[in-house]
Amino acid sequence: MIDLLKLVEQVKDIVREASKFTRTDSFSITEKEGESWNIVTSADVAVQDFLQQKLQELVPGSGFEGEEKHMMDIDKEICWIVDPIDGTTNFARGMQQSGISVGMRQGKELVLGVVYNPDHDDLFWATKGNGAFHNGKRVHVSKMDFEHSVICTALSLYRKNLAEICSNVLNETYQQCADFRRFGVASLEMCYLAVGRVDLYFEIRLYPWDFAASAVIIREAGGCISTVKWGNGKAELSDDLILDVPSPILIANSRANLERLGSIVTKHMAGLTEADYK
Ligand code: IPD
Ligand code: CA
Ligand code: CA
Repeated sequence: MIDLLKLVEQVKDIVREASKFTRTDSFSITEKEGESWNIVTSADVAVQDFLQQKLQELVPGSGFEGEEKHMMDIDKEICWIVDPIDGTTNFARGMQQSGISVGMRQGKELVLGVVYNPDHDDLFWATKGNGAFHNGKRVHVSKMDFEHSVICTALSLYRKNLAEICSNVLNETYQQCADFRRFGVASLEMCYLAVGRVDLYFEIRLYPWDFAASAVIIREAGGCISTVKWGNGKAELSDDLILDVPSPILIANSRANLERLGSIVTKHMAGLTEADYK
């Protein structure tokens, strides 16, 4: 049996060590698939290579799935799900808002998550059943009601055809809540929800490495995270997160707020076809 509490301490050390590859001004930038908004830096690749080697050494036989050089070890009982730099645009422009995100799946469940912002030396982590922590302090989501909530969201960076639905969701939510933020780093935004700085979160299309670590942190901080399953003109919330393909992610500080946000999202997503989403 894996001792998650011991393992997470080792993962925290590895993640901190990996951050040395982000402490440089000399990195190269490449556009993926010729898209100006879809970039990768040499630091992303260096962090991922380092994490893959160290994490697979730490748990022999474990699989690894990372954003750069997609490897889909979905058949492995234990698999690391890693975004080496989440918020690459922020990183490339020196905005000091990016995260190294390491999640671990055991069987079908996400059981461990570590997210680190190297610029602020800000470390968030959780293991299933043992609570969520921020720099050593136990954390909880806010108790804010919907009307006082701040939502973090984005307009579907890598599928701009979905931006209109996202704008419609944001507009309707914005009329009912307090304000919104767009920090450009999904994993950290979810951690901000876990510590009570924001209260709602929605992105229409996230990859497993964007949320795997933070999902554990959110749930251990008392928050709710769901996806949307849709088709045939219907869309509904599901707590069964999708770990092999991109999916919508909704998060809230309470079940009631999740359902209220969910009713807005599912209304706007109902007509979406699989072809538009791919
Ligand atoms: C992106 C960031 C961004 C979010 C996108 C993500 P990347 O990750 O988290 O905030 O809106 O959906 O893909 O590409 O910088 O790792
Ligand atoms: Ca990401
Ligand atoms: Ca990334």
